[in-house]
Amino acid sequence: MNSLEKSFKKGNELELEIVNLAFGGKGVARLGGFVIFVEGAMPGDRVRAVIVRSRPSYAEARVLEVLNPSRSRIEPACSYFGDCGGCSWQTLSYEEQLRYKQHQVSECLGHIGGLTGSAMDPPLAAEPLWRYRNKVEFTFAGPEGGTILGFHKPGQWQQVVDIDDCLLHSRLTNRIRNHIRAWVRDSGVPAYDQHRQTGFWRHLVLREGLNTGEVMVNIVTAAGEFPGRQELARELTRLFPPVASILWSINQTRASVAGGFPFSVLAGRDHIHEKIGGLDLKISPASFLQTNTAMAERLYLKALEYAGLSGDELVLDLYSGIGSIALLFAGNCRRVLGVELMEEAVELARENALINQVENAQFRSGKVRVALKELALERQPDLVVLDPPRAGASKKEVSRILGLGAPRIVYVSCNASTMAGNARQLADGGYRLLRVGAVDMFPHTPHIETVALFKRES
Ligand SMILES: C[S@@+](CC[C@H](N)C(=O)[O-])C[C@H]1O[C@@H](n2cnc3c(N)ncnc32)[C@H](O)[C@@H]1O
Repeated sequence: MNSLEKSFKKGNELELEIVNLAFGGKGVARLGGFVIFVEGAMPGDRVRAVIVRSRPSYAEARVLEVLNPSRSRIEPACSYFGDCGGCSWQTLSYEEQLRYKQHQVSECLGHIGGLTGSAMDPPLAAEPLWRYRNKVEFTFAGPEGGTILGFHKPGQWQQVVDIDDCLLHSRLTNRIRNHIRAWVRDSGVPAYDQHRQTGFWRHLVLREGLNTGEVMVNIVTAAGEFPGRQELARELTRLFPPVASILWSINQTRASVAGGFPFSVLAGRDHIHEKIGGLDLKISPASFLQTNTAMAERLYLKALEYAGLSGDELVLDLYSGIGSIALLFAGNCRRVLGVELMEEAVELARENALINQVENAQFRSGKVRVALKELALERQPDLVVLDPPRAGASKKEVSRILGLGAPRIVYVSCNASTMAGNARQLADGGYRLLRVGAVDMFPHTPHIETVALFKRES
């Protein structure tokens, strides 16, 4: 091991110049051919950092001190910055955030997809920049009587930062969270301890229809008696009239996740509504909905623009969720067929079609890979829209999509790196990438949504 390699040993401290931002959001420094990914550093910074992980070709480090701040650095808007794991880019000016996000989409397409020189549309900037989320998940922690309720510390899953005002969601839902925390403190029942697997209160999930004003409160606990639950439900509905749904979910597993568990309704309904792009969407606790309502509309309209529908097309909407894209496209084509894994989401998509009086959209449950094998379509689809989860579509799924031979494909993605891999396979299968656009749904975080249009060439 030479002296340079020794300096990358875990626990060593180094002074580093940050030259770039990596996909995923860490600062990038280079030293003697080595790449160091630095948590909490911005391009242009000179920092003192400690190595936290060392690998043969790269290392990971954490900032201890900013020795010379980048000119793009700004003061964080949130008082929990650094302590809380969210919004890690808020010290970077918004213009720079957008520039890096655009650059990262183009880098992914180039490096992973081998699709260099794709012309990108200007990125769509987020509006508003704060209080944009329609869903937030908090974790309960702390001893009996001293319960805290907030987000995990970065990289420390056992530790929770108590939050009074999170700038990602509305003032109303902040007040609801604080009221529930105070009530839980008085309950005399301890929060769940992930390590010991004892205690009761686990998570709080708040969903808010930002265009309807309706709020869903979902309290997730371990198994056991929920003392005073009716009293709490009455109090919440009296103090916060927008609360339309109060649910109690039980997580009996070791996994520290907030969703997907059996629930009972403590007050109101088992669902709320949100409006996006003129559609009235019914949402259940488990269903997927883009978390930024305002930008979801812009994203879907961009996808619709790329689709260039004339009114007579047969459209396939793959990974269709509760039907948002299919129902929006339905007004611009002859027929749209959605395919979605979750049976419950398919039921909701069908209900959403009825609510919005859409008659030319049908939904089918199942895996895309299986459904595309079994589908008996009346004709070749004119357009395939796909909006897969973060892992992207599997190779088999993309092969099946290629087998459909649709003249155009619109790809909506929340992960440019997996989209780039799928884009390579589409290119090898005879499609040309015509347009790409980044849509910023998650300001102050490294995440970016992308829409891409592919045209069949051979
Ligand atoms: C990113 S969401 C998109 C939902 C919808 N397009 C929207 O905008 O609200 C991805 C959806 O894919 C579904 N899904 C995941 N794997 C799937 C598969 N193999 N086949 C079909 N659907 C799948 C998930 O249940 C989820 O609803």
